[in-house]
Amino acid sequence: MIIKPFKRESLLPLPVAFISTISADGVRNIAPYSCIMPVLRPLDLICLASAWKRDTLNNIRATGEFVVNLAGADLADKVIPTARFSPPEADEFILAGLSAKPSVEIKAPGIEGCYAWMECRLWKLYEESQFVLIVGQVVHCEVADAACLPDGSINLETARPLMITGSNQGMKFCTAFDIHRFEPFGAMFPNGKDPLAAKYTEE
Ligand SMILES: Cc1cc2nc3c(=O)[nH]c(=O)nc-3n(C[C@H](O)[C@H](O)[C@H](O)COP(=O)(O)O)c2cc1C
Repeated sequence: MIIKPFKRESLLPLPVAFISTISADGVRNIAPYSCIMPVLRPLDLICLASAWKRDTLNNIRATGEFVVNLAGADLADKVIPTARFSPPEADEFILAGLSAKPSVEIKAPGIEGCYAWMECRLWKLYEESQFVLIVGQVVHCEVADAACLPDGSINLETARPLMITGSNQGMKFCTAFDIHRFEPFGAMFPNGKDPLAAKYTEE
C-alpha cells in the first residue's frame, strides 16, 4: 500500500514523553511530546521537535530548562488533559492531577509516577519557519529502581513505556515488549569491539 508522505509518522511507533517546564513567572507546565530522539550515542543530547505555539517552547526559551519525563502505560489518561490548550497562567500539574518530583539540577520539577526523568538544559534551538528543534543537554538522568535491570536497560515489563502509533483518526496507545534477542554494540564493528565500551563502565 502506498500512503501519503505526511503520514510517515503513522508507520513509526513513537514514545510519549511528558515535558515539564516552568515559565519565567514560575507557572508549572506539562505537555506530551512524541517527536523526540537522543542525538547519537554516546552524546548526552536529546532533541525535541516543537511547533512554535507551545508554552513548552516559550518556557524553555525563558528558563533554559526542561524535564523529559518517561511515562508508563498507566499514565495514558494524562495525555489529553496535558495536550489540550490551556492558558499559560494555568498550572498543568493541578489541571492534570499530577504531583511534582523535585529536580536535582534544575528548577523545573519532574512528574511523580513516571519511570524515568531526564533533567535538561537548553543546548541549542534550531528555528525554522514551521518548527523549532530544541536540543537539550541531559544534566541529570534518573530511573525508578523497579524499572531498571542490572545490565543498564529498562525492565519493559514493569516500566511499560507509553507509546503511540498513528492512524487516520488519531493515536493508538501502545507499549514495547522484549523479543529476547540480544546483540552487543561490538557486533557492529569488524574487530567485534565497541570503541565506546569504556564509557559504559566508568563512574
Ligand atoms: C501524543 C502526543 C504527542 C505530541 N507530540 C508533540 C510534539 O512532539 N511536538 C509538539 O510541538 N507538539 C506535540 N503534541 C501537541 C502538544 O502536546 C499540545 O499542543 C500541547 O497543548 C502543548 O502544550 P503547551 O502549549 O503547554 O506546551 C503532542 C500531543 C500528543 C497528544
